[in-house]
Amino acid sequence: MPKLKSCLMSGCLVLVAASLSLFATPALAGKAAVKRGERVVNEWCRDCHVRDGADLTADMAPAYADIVAVPGRDRAWFEKFLEDDHFPMTTFRLFEHEKADVVEYLLSLQEH
Ligand code: HEC
Repeated sequence: MPKLKSCLMSGCLVLVAASLSLFATPALAGKAAVKRGERVVNEWCRDCHVRDGADLTADMAPAYADIVAVPGRDRAWFEKFLEDDHFPMTTFRLFEHEKADVVEYLLSLQEH
C-alpha cells in the first residue's frame, strides 16, 4: 500500500510539472526569441538604424521605437516587410528563423 501511495504521489508530481511547463514554455520561448531577435538587429541593422533616443541624421534610418509606433505595425506587417529586402538594405539576407526572431523583438518594443 505505501508503494501505491508513493506511486500516486510521484504521478501527481509529474502532472503538476507537466502543467507548469505547459504554461511556462510559451512565455519563456517568446522571451528567448526576443533576445535572439535583438542580437540579430544589433549585428545587422544598427549600421543604418539609429538607436532609440539618438538623433536621426540624413544618412541614417529611423529608430525601431519610432518604426513600431506607427499605427498598423502588427505581426503581419513586420513579417511581410522582412520577406523582402528594403532599399538600401539589399546587401544581406536573414535566415527565416532570424526574421521570426526579429519580428518578436520588434513586437516586444511595442509593449513598452
Ligand atoms: C543599409 C542600411 C539599412 C540596414 C542595414 C537596415 N535598414 Fe531598415 N531601413 C533603412 C532605411 C533607409 C529605411 C527607411 C526607408 C524605407 O522605409 O525603406 C529603413 C526602414 C526600415 C523599416 C521601416 C520601414 C517603414 O516604412 O517604416 C523596418 C521595419 C526596417 N527598416 C527593419 C530593418 C531590419 C530588421 C534590419 C536588420 C535586419 C534593417 N532594417 C537593416 C536602411 C537599412
